[in-house]
Amino acid sequence: MNILGIETSCDETSAAVVNEQSILANIIATQSIHQKYGGVVPEYASRAHIIKLAPIVQEALHTAGMDFRDLDGLAVTFGPGLAGSLLAGLCFCKGLALSLNIPWIGINHIEGHIVAVHANQQNIDYPAICLVASGGHTILVYIKEPLHYRILGRTIDDAAGEAFDKVAKILGLPYPGGPSVEKFAQTGNEAAIRFPRALLENDNYNFSFSGLKTAVLYYVESLHKQGIEAPMADICASFQKAVIDVLAQKSFNAVKEYRCKSLILAGGVVRNTPLRENFRELARHSQVHFYAPAPDLCTDNAAMIARAGYMRLIQNQRSDFMLDVVPNLSFTDSPN
Ligand SMILES: Nc1ncnc2c1ncn2[C@@H]1O[C@H](COP(=O)(O)OP(=O)(O)OP(=O)(O)O)[C@@H](O)[C@H]1O
Ligand SMILES: [Mg+2]
Repeated sequence: MNILGIETSCDETSAAVVNEQSILANIIATQSIHQKYGGVVPEYASRAHIIKLAPIVQEALHTAGMDFRDLDGLAVTFGPGLAGSLLAGLCFCKGLALSLNIPWIGINHIEGHIVAVHANQQNIDYPAICLVASGGHTILVYIKEPLHYRILGRTIDDAAGEAFDKVAKILGLPYPGGPSVEKFAQTGNEAAIRFPRALLENDNYNFSFSGLKTAVLYYVESLHKQGIEAPMADICASFQKAVIDVLAQKSFNAVKEYRCKSLILAGGVVRNTPLRENFRELARHSQVHFYAPAPDLCTDNAAMIARAGYMRLIQNQRSDFMLDVVPNLSFTDSPN
């Protein structure tokens, strides 16, 4: 069964083909136009999707060694994301579904991030705790079995990726902030500055990163007033460590409380190498299985959407042509 996935929720135009075990193609075109604005400009994003979608889909099919007649189903992100960007992908998918007369399904982008780990890794031991840390979300999820979710907690303000992006902006580093902060952190001392770790004492699984971002801002401003140059590497390393500490402590508390066999990472922030290494080490200590998608599958890509589509289509789930985009689609508990 060959499934074509389409992902256009933000500024990546991506198409992928997956079958039961593997990713046959995963083409990701990142829109560079946004870099000079320091963030994504929605109108430019949707226009670029419209121009790029058809050639990217062709390229995915070509890489997979197929044509449209070899496809058995389609999957597309219908939310959350930018309305115009989502519309470009959903309309393209509906057009294809109509002309090829094959089943299709709309996928919640966050579920895509979660199942990215299944892209090449089939045998995950459930129940598991999954930490989703992305540009717009930070969610801790209990997964009883694949596609069956219970939300344990989420951020009450900024997402972890958003904190990386905002701190990078404060420090004058390029967008997206995560990779630049990680790069500077490599030569810094993570114990140099004691930035706050919010909500650790609370016995719930919510997160807060807005105070941490403000602490970095105040620290930089106070040095600036004294005419002292900000120690970029130490700030990046200390900030990054504060984020990792909070994410790790909450995740492993949940693994223990819910007696899970595995811990899964998902979302763009988990491209971060020190974060992955920290989690790997803690998982080894706690004797739980640890799974993280390959770095290219952590940020937005269509292979994760195709995989989620595959998993739902084989259960005979379908979308119909009334489905519309839902820009503020939330990720909630699965029905029982
Ligand atoms: N190496 C890294 N370290 C830390 N953060 C990173 C790294 N690489 C990417 N990120 C962050 O990951 C985020 C992008 O991830 P992702 O594509 O999952 O988010 P999004 O699609 O914008 O948001 P969402 O999935 O919540 O809708 C950005 O905030 C970026 O700064
Ligand atoms: Mg994303």
